[in-house]
Formats: sequence, structure tokens, C-alpha cells
Amino acid sequence: MKLIFATANQHKAIEAQAILGQKVQLILPADLGYTQEIPETGNTLESNAMQKARTIWNIWGMDCFADDTGLEVLALDGAPGVFSARYAGANATMQANLAKLLTQLKGKADRRARFRSVIALILKGTEYLFEGCVSGHILEIPQGDHGFGYDPLFVPQGYGCSFALMSPQEKNAISHRGRALEQLANFLSLR
Ligand code: IMP
Repeated sequence: MKLIFATANQHKAIEAQAILGQKVQLILPADLGYTQEIPETGNTLESNAMQKARTIWNIWGMDCFADDTGLEVLALDGAPGVFSARYAGANATMQANLAKLLTQLKGKADRRARFRSVIALILKGTEYLFEGCVSGHILEIPQGDHGFGYDPLFVPQGYGCSFALMSPQEKNAISHRGRALEQLANFLSLR
């Protein structure tokens, strides 16, 4: 089956293709000549994911999905959450976001956090939501250079190293988006 994945993030596209497998042909908006940024102006992961999927559905009327992810830190009352991409300000670099997170957590003993991913699917015009979470903690110093985003600071529960030190396969097997994509794959009967 063909599915548009409403993202411009190549890392996410590679992760999704690996998890959904060969039965799905993923198409990115860029493959269809769409070069604008897909708007995400909601206050929740659910509303942002659905807004991105609806944007694609409204343009092409093709089956599609979008994800939105947030890092939720307990001692920061769930921040940066839905604002994870612009934690240090609009158009903030990832280095700036990581630096802000470390500053906000300076001196705090409780470094528990979780990644939460929501996937919005529109299939033949009907809307569905899926969610995946992974709990863990935030390091004091970034570790590793695989992956993207907050990966160098996040250690999943039960593991001794950050996501950024894991292979893509190791990360996909336990990650928030991996878990949400697994649910999508099950729903689409790809397993
Ligand atoms: P979005 O889902 O692309 O809007 O991501 C929101 C923010 O979370 C961005 O700053 C991403 O870099 C970050 N993020 C999303 N997924 C991951 C991940 O798997 N690891 C680390 N950071 C992530």
C-alpha cells in the first residue's frame, strides 16, 4: 500500500520505513514537490499530528499519517512537551534546545523523563490516533552522535547508554515512535 508520511525529517522516514516494512511504500511530501513547512500550531501532540495529516489529506486526498513527538520531563512539569522543537525559541537549533534543557535541570536530582509520540492516520477519510511512550532519564552531559534531536541526553529505562549511542535497530525496538509505528503496523495488518 502507498502512504504519505507527513514529514520532512529523513531520520523519521528511515525509521518508519524500517518498522512498517516492504508492504508499505512511503511517500514524503517532498517527493510530491511540496517544499513548504507543514503547519503545526496546536497545543497538544494529538492536535499537531492530526493537523499535519489533515494538511496532506486536504491537498492530495491520499491515505497518510503524521507524527508529533514531545520530550516530557517530570521535574519540569512535562516541559518541553509539545514545544520540544522550539524549546529555546522559534527556529532554535538542537544544540540550543539541549543546552536549555541542561540549564533547566541543573542541580535537580529527579531527571525522569519520557518521550511520547502520537501518530495520526487518515485512511479513506477516517481519522485514527496511535500513541507510543518510552520512559527514561536525562543525562548531565550529551552522549553519542547517532539519531537526532534529544537522543544524546536521553537514556531509556533499563539501559546504560543514551539513544544516541544505540544502533537504529536498537533504538527502533524500544522507542516511542517505534512503539507508535508498531501499533500503526498492527492496525494496517502489516504483521
Ligand atoms: P517533532 O515530532 O518533529 O515535532 O519533534 C519535536 C522535537 O522532538 C524535535 O526537537 C525533535 O528533534 C525531537 N524529537 C522527536 N523525535 C525524537 C527522537 O526520536 N529522539 C530525540 N528527539 C526527538
